[in-house]
Amino acid sequence: MTEQELVARAFEAQKRAYAPYSGFPVGAALLCGDGAVFTGCNVENAAYGCTVCAERVAALKAVSEGRREGWLMLAVAGTGRDFCWPCGPCRQVLHEFCPDLVVLAANGEGEFRRASLSRLLPRAFGPEQLSGA
Ligand code: THU
Repeated sequence: MTEQELVARAFEAQKRAYAPYSGFPVGAALLCGDGAVFTGCNVENAAYGCTVCAERVAALKAVSEGRREGWLMLAVAGTGRDFCWPCGPCRQVLHEFCPDLVVLAANGEGEFRRASLSRLLPRAFGPEQLSGA
């Protein structure tokens, strides 16, 4: 699957976003080494703090389906002109399972940029810290 195709999957997922409060629908698509793709969209809530980002929905779907390993690339599709990079908590959740994940951040015009998760979350806290305690 090409980067372009993964970004397209993120935009498909964005159509299912539930974002009545922010008006900012987001989609995500996580590609695994065997070609499996897990998608997610943001799901907001009247109790705003219960909102879950698209990236975390995709990541947690992968984990809950038994896919903790072999993640390759995550595409995030936002709206507007700015590229939609994952928020801090999403970066942390992604790091838990794939510190060297490649992230593609797309804007509403379908353009995208690439960055490694290690660049987005340098000196991250991970499971190895706990095992060294
Ligand atoms: N959001 C995401 O789903 N992913 C991001 O990377 C940025 C923010 C959502 C959360 C909320 O539903 C809306 O976008 C506005 O913050």
